[in-house]
Amino acid sequence: MEKLKKVPSHVAIIMDGNGRWATKRGLPRNFGHREGVKAIERTIYACLKYGIKYCTFFAFSTENWKRSKEEIHGIFNLLREYIDKDDNIFTKNNVKVTSIGVLDPFPEDLKKSLINIKEKTINFDRLNVCFALNYGGRDDITRAINKIIEQDVKRVTEKDILNMLDTRSMPEPDLIIRTSGEMRISNFLLYQMAYSELYFPKVLWPDFNEKHFIKALKNYQKRNRRYGGIT
Ligand code: IPE
Ligand code: IPE
Ligand code: MG
Repeated sequence: MEKLKKVPSHVAIIMDGNGRWATKRGLPRNFGHREGVKAIERTIYACLKYGIKYCTFFAFSTENWKRSKEEIHGIFNLLREYIDKDDNIFTKNNVKVTSIGVLDPFPEDLKKSLINIKEKTINFDRLNVCFALNYGGRDDITRAINKIIEQDVKRVTEKDILNMLDTRSMPEPDLIIRTSGEMRISNFLLYQMAYSELYFPKVLWPDFNEKHFIKALKNYQKRNRRYGGIT
């Protein structure tokens, strides 16, 4: 196993390119999402192997409701199947599952599965896997501000906002990876990524594997994080 120094503590991934992966093969888009689940599994194993502590997967955005019912339900079914598996990767490997985003609009069975896996893994601490579901960065910030307003405060600090965001129990992402060559953020962790390192590999998400992940980690190691200062 390759030795890696200075691994990011939190990697957040915009898993993009599932649709294109399928279309290129003349397959319906949901085949791409199905392959994409395998890439999630590979990435979790890589996180375990290289000692990453937090990994967040952008699985469904607040804007993804614009897609066809068929595609949306396909994604929900895949997710449910994945987290419901008896020999799931989480309970076997001491992995805690959490989520960010608003779960209310999801089907009851998916919500139940999510609650179930979160409860089962709540005390696990080797790796924290977070699924961003019906997640939008702007929505996260707006909900945080509304929660603060409810407390009748007159002034808000940056810390107050950070402490109200869905990600409050996690460190800010050190490295954000977006696959498929698109170089945009698409309303992901807007407030949290103020000083994240960004990495945009061309590979489509269903093809993403340990090699791509190591390449991303090595690229991260070369970055000089200055946070506005001088080194
Ligand atoms: C990302 O792949 C998965 C989700 C947004 C759920 P896409 O479905 O966006 O794939 P492309 O961008 O159409 O190729
Ligand atoms: C971002 O990908 C959302 C997820 C990966 C869940 P999209 O494919 O939805 O983003 P756009 O539409 O290309 O910006
Ligand atoms: Mg896309």
